[in-house]
Amino acid sequence: MRKLSYIVASFLLLAAMGLLSTASAEDACIKCHQKISPGQVADWKISKHSQEDVTCSTCHGDKHKTAEDWKLATLPDEHVCAECHEEQFDQFSKGKHNFGWTSMNALPITHVEPDNLMEGGKGCGGCHNMGIKSEAQKKAQRDKGYRYQNNSCDECHTRHAFSKKEALHPRACQMCHMGYDHPQWEMWSSSKHGTRWLVKDSGRLPEGAAAPKCQDCHMPDGTHNNHTAWGFLGVRLPLPEDKQWAADRVTLLKALGVLNPETGEPTARLDAVKAVDLARLTQEAWQTERDKMIKTCSKCHSEKYVTAQLEMGDDMIKQTDRILAEAIEIVAGLYKDGILKKRASQPFAYPDFLYFMRTDYSAASGESYKELPAGMSYIEQVLFQMYMKHRMRAYQGFFHMNPDYAYWYGWAMMTKDLGHIKDLAAEMRGGH
Ligand code: HEC
Ligand code: HEC
Ligand code: HEC
Ligand code: HEC
Ligand code: HEC
Ligand code: HEC
Ligand code: HEC
Ligand code: HEC
Repeated sequence: MRKLSYIVASFLLLAAMGLLSTASAEDACIKCHQKISPGQVADWKISKHSQEDVTCSTCHGDKHKTAEDWKLATLPDEHVCAECHEEQFDQFSKGKHNFGWTSMNALPITHVEPDNLMEGGKGCGGCHNMGIKSEAQKKAQRDKGYRYQNNSCDECHTRHAFSKKEALHPRACQMCHMGYDHPQWEMWSSSKHGTRWLVKDSGRLPEGAAAPKCQDCHMPDGTHNNHTAWGFLGVRLPLPEDKQWAADRVTLLKALGVLNPETGEPTARLDAVKAVDLARLTQEAWQTERDKMIKTCSKCHSEKYVTAQLEMGDDMIKQTDRILAEAIEIVAGLYKDGILKKRASQPFAYPDFLYFMRTDYSAASGESYKELPAGMSYIEQVLFQMYMKHRMRAYQGFFHMNPDYAYWYGWAMMTKDLGHIKDLAAEMRGGH
C-alpha cells in the first residue's frame, strides 16, 4: 500500500516537474557523477531511496544534462520531500525547528555580522538553517552567492543516505545542541541518562536496558514536532503568583526589550517574540508541553518522582531569576545615574540582551560592522554572559539531570558574575 502510494507520488512529482524519460536520465546522472562526485553516488546507493526508485532526477529534475549546465539542477527544498513524506513535513512545520531561520533573522545582531556566518552557514546560520524558507529568503541567500541551504530535512538524516538509523543516534543532534548557550549534548552525555546510553551503545548492557536519548524525550514516537515547556529563554507569561519572582521576571523582560523599562508597557519587540514562538504566552501552552514530558518520563520512572524533579527545575529558574534581576538592576542603575550612556542603536537607556556581545551597531543607519564605534561596556558583557551562558547552564543542566552543569558551570558562575558586576559598578562609580 505504502509502496504503491510512493510510486504514485513519485510519478506525480515527476509529472509536476515536467520530467520525461527518467530511466535514461538516471543512468546519465549516475555515470557522470560516479566520476565527479563518487561519494555522493555511494551514499545514495546505500539509501532506502535507491531501492525504491527515488533517484537523482526525482529530487533534482533532469534539466541539467552536461558538465556545463549544472546550474539548471533543482536544489530540492522541504516541499519536494513532502511529496512522499507528508506526515513528517506537517509535523516539522508545526514544530520549533521550523522557526530556526526566522528567529535568527528576527534579531538585529544578525544583520551586521559577516555574511559568511549567516547566509553562508558557518556561524549562526550553520545551526539556524532549520525551517522552511520563503522564496524571498532563499533568493536573498542565493543572491549573495550561497548555495545548498534550501533543505532542513537533511540536518538529522543527512544527504544522500537519508538514514533513519543515523537520525535516531543522539550525535545527530550534537552539531547544533552543544556549546556556549545550549550545551545539551555535553549535559546529557555526562548525565546518568547519557552515561547509561553510551554504556549500552558500546554493548555492555543488554538491548532491553532503559537508557533515554534526546529523541526519546523530544521526538517521542518519531514525531517531528519538537517543543518544550520553557524553551530557550526560560521566560513565560502570565507572570507567576509569587511576588518576588513576578518582579524579577519583569526585570528580565525589560532587559529582553519586550517591556518598556520606563512604563512597563509591552514594546513592538513583544510581537516579534510572539511571531517566532520565543516564549510560551499562556499557562496552558506551557502545561501541555510539561504534561507530555511527564508522560514520557513515566515510561521509566514513577510519575510523582519525575513531576517533583521537573518542579525543582522550575524552582531553579526562579532562583536564577532572582540573582540575575539583581545584576540587571545594578547595571540599569548606572544608566539611571548617567554613568552609562544610551547609544544611538539602543531602544532604551537600559541593558539589552538582544545586543549579544557586540560593541555597537545600527542596521538602520546602514553602517557596516567594520566601522562601528566601541559601544557595549564591559560590565554589560559580563551581564550578558551571566544571562546567556551561565543562567542557561544552571537550569538546562538541571533539566538534563547533570549535577556539574547545574552547579559549577551554571549557578556558581552566576554568583561569581554577580560579584564581578558589583565590583565593576563600584569602580565605575568612583569607589574602590
Ligand atoms: C556529463 C556529466 C554530468 C551529467 C550527465 C550530470 N551531471 Fe550533475 N554535475 C556535473 C558537474 C560537472 C557539476 C558541477 C560540479 C561542481 O560543482 O564542480 C554537476 C552538478 C550537479 C548538481 C549541483 C548543482 C548546483 O547547483 O550546485 C546537482 C544537484 C547535479 N549535478 C545533479 C545531476 C543530476 C540529477 C543529473 C541527471 C539528471 C546530473 N547531475 C547529470 C556533471 C554532470
Ligand atoms: C518520490 C518519493 C520520495 C521523495 C521525493 C523522497 N522520499 Fe524519502 N523515502 C521514499 C521511500 C519510498 C522511502 C522508503 C520507505 C520505507 O522504507 O518505508 C523513503 C525513505 C526515507 C527515509 C527513511 C530511511 C530509512 O533509513 O528508513 C528518510 C529519512 C527519507 N526518506 C527522507 C527523505 C527526505 C529528507 C527527502 C527530501 C530531500 C525525501 N525523503 C524525498 C520516497 C521519497
Ligand atoms: C551551534 C549551533 C548554533 C549557533 C552557532 C547559534 N545558534 Fe541559536 N540556537 C541554537 C539552538 C540549538 C537553539 C535552541 C536551544 C535551546 O532551546 O536550548 C538556539 C536558539 C536561538 C534562539 C532562540 C530561539 C527560540 O525560539 O527559543 C535565537 C533567537 C538564536 N538562537 C539566535 C542565534 C544567533 C543570532 C546566533 C549567532 C549570533 C546563533 N543563534 C548561533 C543553535 C545555534
Ligand atoms: C531524496 C532526494 C534526493 C536524491 C534522491 C538525490 N539528492 Fe542530491 N541533494 C538533495 C538535497 C536535499 C540536497 C541539498 C539541497 C540544498 O539544501 O540546497 C542535494 C544536493 C546535491 C548536490 C549539491 C550539494 C553537494 O552536496 O554537493 C549534488 C551535486 C547532488 N545533490 C547530486 C545528487 C546525485 C548525483 C544524486 C543521485 C545519485 C542525488 N543528488 C540524489 C536531495 C537528493
Ligand atoms: C530524559 C529526557 C531528556 C533527554 C534524554 C534529553 N532531554 Fe532535553 N529536555 C528535557 C527536559 C525535561 C527539558 C525541560 C523541559 C521544560 O521546559 O519543561 C529539556 C529541555 C531541552 C531543550 C530546551 C532548552 C533547555 O535545555 O532547557 C532542548 C533544546 C533540549 N532539551 C535538547 C536536548 C538534546 C539535544 C538532547 C540530547 C543531547 C536532550 N535534550 C536530551 C528532557 C530530556
Ligand atoms: C531534528 C532532526 C530531524 C529533522 C530536522 C528531520 N527528521 Fe526525519 N527523522 C528524525 C528521526 C529521529 C527519525 C526516526 C524517528 C523514529 O522512528 O523514532 C526520523 C525519521 C524520518 C522518516 C522515516 C519515518 C519512518 O518511520 O520510516 C522520514 C520519512 C523522515 N524522517 C522525513 C523527514 C522530513 C521530510 C523532514 C523535513 C521536513 C525531516 N524528516 C526532518 C529526525 C529528523
Ligand atoms: C542543524 C542544527 C540542528 C540540529 C541537527 C538539531 N537541532 Fe534542535 N534546534 C536547532 C535550533 C536552531 C533550534 C531553535 C529553533 C528556533 O529558533 O526556534 C532548535 C530547537 C530544538 C528544540 C526546541 C526547544 C524549545 O525551545 O522548545 C528541541 C527540543 C530540539 N531542538 C531538539 C533536537 C533534537 C532531539 C535533535 C536531534 C534529533 C535536534 N534538535 C537536532 C538546531 C538543530
Ligand atoms: C527510557 C527510560 C527513561 C526515561 C524516559 C527517563 N529516565 Fe530517568 N533514568 C533512567 C535510568 C535507567 C536511570 C538510571 C537509574 C539509576 O539512577 O539508578 C535514570 C536516572 C534518573 C535520575 C537520577 C539521576 C542521577 O544523577 O542519579 C533522575 C533524576 C531521572 N532519571 C529523571 C528523569 C526525568 C525527569 C525524566 C523525564 C524528563 C526521565 N528521567 C526519563 C531511565 C529513564
